[in-house]
Amino acid sequence: MRDHLIIEDGRVASVIRAGRALVSGIVEFVDELGVESTQVVVLCQPSTRDIAETTATAFAGSGRRATGFTLPDGEEAKQMGVVEDVYRHLNTQRFTRRDLIVAIGGGALTDTAGFVAGTYLRGVDVVYVPTTLLGAVDAAIGGKTGVNVDGKNLAGVFRHPRAVAIDIDVLDGLPPDLIREGSAEAIKTGMIADPAIVEAYEADRLGVDLDDVVNRSVAVKVAVVNDDFTEDGRRAILNYGHTVGHAIETSTGRSHGASVAIGMHAAAAASAQVLDFGELDRQEAVLRGIGLETTAPDAHAPAIRSLMALDKKRDASGLRMVLLRDIGQPEVHTVDDATVRAALTAIGVD
Ligand SMILES: NC(=O)c1ccc[n+]([C@@H]2O[C@H](COP(=O)([O-])OP(=O)(O)OC[C@H]3O[C@@H](n4cnc5c(N)ncnc54)[C@H](O)[C@@H]3O)[C@@H](O)[C@H]2O)c1
Repeated sequence: MRDHLIIEDGRVASVIRAGRALVSGIVEFVDELGVESTQVVVLCQPSTRDIAETTATAFAGSGRRATGFTLPDGEEAKQMGVVEDVYRHLNTQRFTRRDLIVAIGGGALTDTAGFVAGTYLRGVDVVYVPTTLLGAVDAAIGGKTGVNVDGKNLAGVFRHPRAVAIDIDVLDGLPPDLIREGSAEAIKTGMIADPAIVEAYEADRLGVDLDDVVNRSVAVKVAVVNDDFTEDGRRAILNYGHTVGHAIETSTGRSHGASVAIGMHAAAAASAQVLDFGELDRQEAVLRGIGLETTAPDAHAPAIRSLMALDKKRDASGLRMVLLRDIGQPEVHTVDDATVRAALTAIGVD
């Protein structure tokens, strides 16, 4: 078990604990942090209702009033209408600023719960229990919350949860598809900052030691976020693979992890052209080794280019991509058309 600390203005804003049996020990964890709530509202998604019920029972056993509220699954949760439904449940429960929300689920659930916590009564405490690998290594870490309004994550606030409890026992029980999905982000983290993560996937593929991979990934994200909370500078390195990845996700409907893997291959090809990056094949083997695609020949090239151009319009300096000089050496570059072409050719889009 390991704690990772998010520091804001010299104070601990959030404690992220990753280890085993944390769901069964959630009351003790919250007590240890001194979160003094008289009431707990447990938010979950359909797939995490069992864990939520156990958790609510544990809080009730500690003398707190505890209720549960199930949000719709996946992106269906990330809507203003659902946010309002949760506000209404909190109203009905006479929820106060001394009470606590516990959010149990994947990234869609924690993103929505975080938005509720950041806005209800102008901000109440929330503890996340991420139950997907993507949630554990990415969505639950770093204080970004968001719901979708026409575009993805267009409404949101920056707000850290009081704590994050990542129970490796829960992650060990995930189906291979969800392990693969989160592994794309874990490998990305390895490529930008921790070669040991890449080596772990080379050795054990989808059978990697999740305790080790999660703790390493969280350590990197926490260090980056502590350096640059609101993404003015260094936090951008976390977007390695995401410029092309987002365009693939939007235009082909692939999942986020699958799209990021393809985006990483494109970014690695651009890195080879601009910075002589020599690990393109190695990265591709690692991604393919766990069943992720690195090309998207079905993608419509003009659609990908115009989605990337949209990104460019949002940044006056041109299209910016995170490139690698070597594993662990990310750099943000404004790239020219020839580089974009090389990146798209590498993923079969031309
Ligand atoms: N805030 C951030 O910084 C950030 C970063 C990355 C991604 N995100 C967001 O995270 C979301 C994607 O995360 P996700 O893939 O975890 O999404 P998700 O919450 O939709 O979970 C994916 C699926 O897994 C199911 N699930 C959850 N826990 C399970 C378990 N223990 N066993 C079996 N099934 C389980 C869910 O019900 C859902 O169907 C997106 O909305 C994305 O925008 C946010």
